[in-house]
Amino acid sequence: MNTLTSDILDRLRGADGFLSGGELCSEMGITRSAVWKHISLLRKKGYSIEAVSGRGYRLSGSPGLPVPEEIQPFLSTARFGRTVEYHETLESTNQRAKTLAREGAAEGCVVIADSQTGGRGRMGREWMSPPAANLYFSVILRPPVPPLRLSQIPLLAAAAIHRTVEATVDNVSAMVKWPNDILIDGRKVCGILCEMETEPDMTHFVIAGIGINVNLREIPADLEGIATSLSIESGNEWSRSEILAALLNCFEPMYDEWLEAEDLGDILPYLDRYAWLKGKEVSVERYKGSVSGKVTGLGRSGELLLMDNDGTEHAITSGEATIRKEA
Ligand code: BTN
Repeated sequence: MNTLTSDILDRLRGADGFLSGGELCSEMGITRSAVWKHISLLRKKGYSIEAVSGRGYRLSGSPGLPVPEEIQPFLSTARFGRTVEYHETLESTNQRAKTLAREGAAEGCVVIADSQTGGRGRMGREWMSPPAANLYFSVILRPPVPPLRLSQIPLLAAAAIHRTVEATVDNVSAMVKWPNDILIDGRKVCGILCEMETEPDMTHFVIAGIGINVNLREIPADLEGIATSLSIESGNEWSRSEILAALLNCFEPMYDEWLEAEDLGDILPYLDRYAWLKGKEVSVERYKGSVSGKVTGLGRSGELLLMDNDGTEHAITSGEATIRKEA
């Protein structure tokens, strides 16, 4: 969007009611027909703008696209989302963010795509990424912490997403499935893929890649009963830009607190409160084989605590949990 168009959009956003066409012309030093041209451009981009003769223009609706001009005016962050790269389509936002991080992009830089052709999930799975429906984005983090602490970042992101969904989306009650899925009614609405580059005792960067099913209306047959969306669960459409801005506003202070803490701090009781696996019998696939037992809670650093049939407690730092039977 060119600067004049986005300037008009900012003025419409900031106006208390109608904004007179005459005032717009004189304040911006442009003609009435130029103002009209920019209003038409904004309408083409999906903004609803009322035009009433004698009163002027009023913004009555935004398309909620996850584009910088729809996100940045609503940010209260210092770093997260201050640089945004938006693409209509990308193979994977994680892949692009990784390239930018290697080139030196700053912490908080966000890469967003309306669709992905090779969206990646955990364990080498694919992440369904159709256009005009969901959020697919990656945040570049440069935490000055030893790599051992990095397995806490997905938990941190999950807590921030859960908080945002609870605060923004009515009529849904979400849970966190360790380590980093957000579920509604047992179906997945959001996934997180953290990828990182480290040395044994130094972290270069972490890419927190997040996919949220926002306005998806139809779940593909192979994901029936497994995946869902905020729209299916709540019965409403949601503004993707509003959700993303709210999430970045929530994520940054939580991340800053985590940097100061030794472990998960206040995030731990929060995750415990919304832990979907708690009390359930599960099997967890780890790189060194699987372990089964009943989930008793979370350790101080976010490990999943399991009690096996012999009464031995296991603290698992990473893996994929599947439910064996409901408690
Ligand atoms: C999971 O398997 O649950 C993790 C899914 C993560 C998907 C997101 S979408 C944005 C970012 N780019 C990717 O390629 N993957 C992540």
